[in-house]
Amino acid sequence: VRMSPVSHYLLVFLSVLSLTPVIFYPFGSVAGDTVNIAVEDENSTLINLWSPFVFFGRTYNRTFVNNNGQLTFNQSSSQFISHYFPINGSEDIIAPLWTDVDVSMNGIISYQQYSTGSVLTRATRDINQYFPGLSFTAIWVLVATWDRVAYFYHTGTETSFQVVLISGSDLSFILMNYGDCAVAYNIVQAGYDTINSTAYFKIPGSDNGSFTPNLKNSTNVNVPGRWAFRVDGGPDQNNLQGTQLICS
Ligand SMILES: *[C@@H]1O[C@H](CO)[C@@H](O)[C@H](O)[C@H]1NC(C)=O
Ligand SMILES: *[C@@H]1O[C@H](CO)[C@@H](O)[C@H](O)[C@H]1NC(C)=O
Ligand SMILES: *[C@@H]1O[C@H](CO)[C@@H](O)[C@H](O)[C@H]1NC(C)=O
Ligand SMILES: *[C@@H]1O[C@H](CO)[C@@H](O)[C@H](O)[C@H]1NC(C)=O
Ligand SMILES: *[C@@H]1O[C@H](CO)[C@@H](O)[C@H](O)[C@H]1NC(C)=O
Ligand SMILES: *[C@@H]1O[C@H](CO)[C@@H](O)[C@H](O)[C@H]1NC(C)=O
Ligand SMILES: *[C@@H]1O[C@H](CO)[C@@H](O)[C@H](O)[C@H]1NC(C)=O
Repeated sequence: VRMSPVSHYLLVFLSVLSLTPVIFYPFGSVAGDTVNIAVEDENSTLINLWSPFVFFGRTYNRTFVNNNGQLTFNQSSSQFISHYFPINGSEDIIAPLWTDVDVSMNGIISYQQYSTGSVLTRATRDINQYFPGLSFTAIWVLVATWDRVAYFYHTGTETSFQVVLISGSDLSFILMNYGDCAVAYNIVQAGYDTINSTAYFKIPGSDNGSFTPNLKNSTNVNVPGRWAFRVDGGPDQNNLQGTQLICS
């Protein structure tokens, strides 16, 4: 039986949909991402940001997407044993899912920056929905995606998550998007932390050994699988929606 072209495209469309959680921003080869090398505990090359990203008052012009599920700004990180936040350390860190990932077994880690196009439109819409009253316009977005990655020495485990850095006119936000996450075998920590932990957030339950909470169902913005944070450190963050823990 030959399928009509229309049903063929419908099928392709549906299969793409089922592999890619709809909350994920575009990623992978289809989106033209740059791919991290598939080596244990590695990192992206140094990513020079097209637009500075303000993180709790510090302005960063570069970042590393580290294979073990976090972004760092000062230097790359090969740390496969995560630390629980607050670390009270000397570096800022954004950790959608910091644990011992091994992309040499399966999965793809990739990233891309945007300064024009539909991804900015989508980011602008999402941020204005979650943080109303700021009249925000995104001018720059970085999307980093861990697509069906394995945990260390557990070939075949598949965990998918994404972090989206969004900035515009001195405001910065992060989205963390979760698809299916396999049960981890090592300590997991999800959230973000700052120098001296003056501000930090841990996704509830994500500091319980290797026990991973059901991230795909969790949210602070009423969208299952998505967490959204304002992270520039500006003065009016108390007006914002969502759970946020600021320590000082
Ligand atoms: C990882 O980052 C370091 C710098 O901290 C760099 O020397 C190294 O080349 C990076 N790895 C890759 C695969 O680019
Ligand atoms: C990033 O560049 C801006 C200027 O665009 C500068 O003010 C800032 O100090 C730089 N940040 C770092 C960490 O070098
Ligand atoms: C990391 O970069 C920030 C911003 O430039 C700086 O304040 C901090 O001291 C750096 N940390 C280390 C360990 O170099
Ligand atoms: C972090 O704490 C150390 C020592 O307590 C202090 O010297 C340093 O200035 C602090 N850094 C920031 C960015 O608050
Ligand atoms: C960080 O450590 C310093 C002492 O080194 C302490 O005074 C401060 O309360 C700690 N901050 C957090 C958030 O744990
Ligand atoms: C920690 O994980 C265990 C299962 O390993 C679970 O029974 C317990 O409720 C979890 N605790 C928290 C605070 O999430
Ligand atoms: C997660 O959400 C799905 C669909 O909404 C539901 O079927 C499932 O029971 C939820 N799981 C938990 C642990 O809440």
